[in-house]
Formats: sequence, C-alpha cells, structure tokens
Amino acid sequence: MTHVLGIDIGGSGMKAAVVDTATGDFVTSKHRIKTPRPATPEAMADVARQLVDHFEWTGQVGVGFPGVIQNGIVRTAANLDKSWIDVDGDRLFTDACGCDVVMINDADAAGLAEVRFGVGEDVRGVVIMLTLGTGIGSAVFVDGQLVPNTEFGHLIMDGEIAEDRASSRAKDDRELSWEAWGAEVRAFLMEMDKLFWPELIMLGGGISKQFEHFSPYLEGVRASVKPAEQFNRAGIVGAALCPSTHG
Ligand code: BGC
Repeated sequence: MTHVLGIDIGGSGMKAAVVDTATGDFVTSKHRIKTPRPATPEAMADVARQLVDHFEWTGQVGVGFPGVIQNGIVRTAANLDKSWIDVDGDRLFTDACGCDVVMINDADAAGLAEVRFGVGEDVRGVVIMLTLGTGIGSAVFVDGQLVPNTEFGHLIMDGEIAEDRASSRAKDDRELSWEAWGAEVRAFLMEMDKLFWPELIMLGGGISKQFEHFSPYLEGVRASVKPAEQFNRAGIVGAALCPSTHG
C-alpha cells in the first residue's frame, strides 16, 4: 500500500489530498488554496509548500500541472504566468516542499485516474480523456497506456482555438446556453472522431457533473461519450499515481 500526496493545479485553485494509490481512495479530506495571481513559479511553489505543510507530509508528491511537462520541465503554460516556460518544475517544487515531487500534465493525470479506477477501466483500444475547465486538457490511452502531452484543446477550429469555444470557461465568458455550448462541444468531439477514431471519449472537469444538461446536444458523435466517474477527484488521484508511473 502506497500513500502519495496528489496536488491538482487548476486555474482557480490548487487542491490536494493524500491518496491510496492501490485503490484510488482519498486517505484524507481535500484541502484547497486559491491559485495565486500572478501564477508565477515562485508563488505557486509556495502554495505547494503550504499544502505539504497542511498535511504534515514527508512522502512522495505528484503534481498535475496545466501545461506540457517533459521530464519535469514545464514547456507550456497557456493559463498561467508565462515565466513558467522551461522551468524545471520537479526541481522547483521538490526544493520548496522538501519532499520528492514529480509533475505530470493535469489532463494526463485525470485520464490515468479514470483509466485505472473510473469509466475507462478495462477499455481496450484508443480512449481519449478531455477535461473541460479553464482550458481543455486531453489525454490519449492505447490499451490503457498513456501517450503523454497531447494538446487537443489547442486544435484550431474555424480559425479559433478549441478551448476558447468548448471549455467551461468559454461557456461562462460567452454566456452560452447548454444547447449553444453543447453544439461547440459536439463540433470538438467530432474532430476527435475524425482524427483518432476513439472507442471512448471520457469527459472530465467540474462541468462533467452536469453531463445530462449537454449530452442531448452531442448526437452524431461516433465514439461512446461518457462523463468521468471520478469528477474533479481525478486530477488529484491521477497526480498521486504519477510518481509510481515514473518508476
Ligand atoms: C493546456 C493543457 C492543459 C489544459 C487543461 C490547456 O490550456 O495547454 O496542457 O492540460 O489547459 O488545464
């Protein structure tokens, strides 16, 4: 049995809990601290330290980060301060927290949790996780194996970045009805169908809890589309799985 502290970095909050990585259960309650603005590396490392202190944690930590992460290095930061780009996130957070920290893309983390413990469990073939939040995150699995750092939210659709049209932020910013927003999500999912022919598309992010409000507008999508079962726990659980997937 391994317990790992999972931290999920979102556009508005940094959320953490200790996770039993064998079962995906939370061992503690969740603790949330607002994402600092500007969301600079130093300010966020300090919040990570506060989260670690809150749990009096000394073990391994996995962090889900909303950008491309290659070997611990942050390569993109669409919705955070641009000074993150090319920062060694593993090193920065490890030094700030005083424990071993491994970073992973936030959607890759959420997808791992759903494939291990949720709606994607035991599904063979190509499975895509999409998180609809401040941005759109994506994760691709082939027979349960992650293909990391896909960035489907940055696909250009009709001259616009997909996440500016179909994220839950876009719904709020553009004051879209469920029907109008559902049509945007549908157009995006049909692109996924066309390009990847997935068996299953799992939809995550807080808005996936309200799947029944927009699922009527997703007709015509060929893949099976299901809301995430882990909801917004997935980011924390998947982040906690990350240190073990890194060996
Ligand atoms: C980022 C992705 C991230 C997603 C969800 C996008 O803007 O580029 O890396 O997974 O937002 O946070």
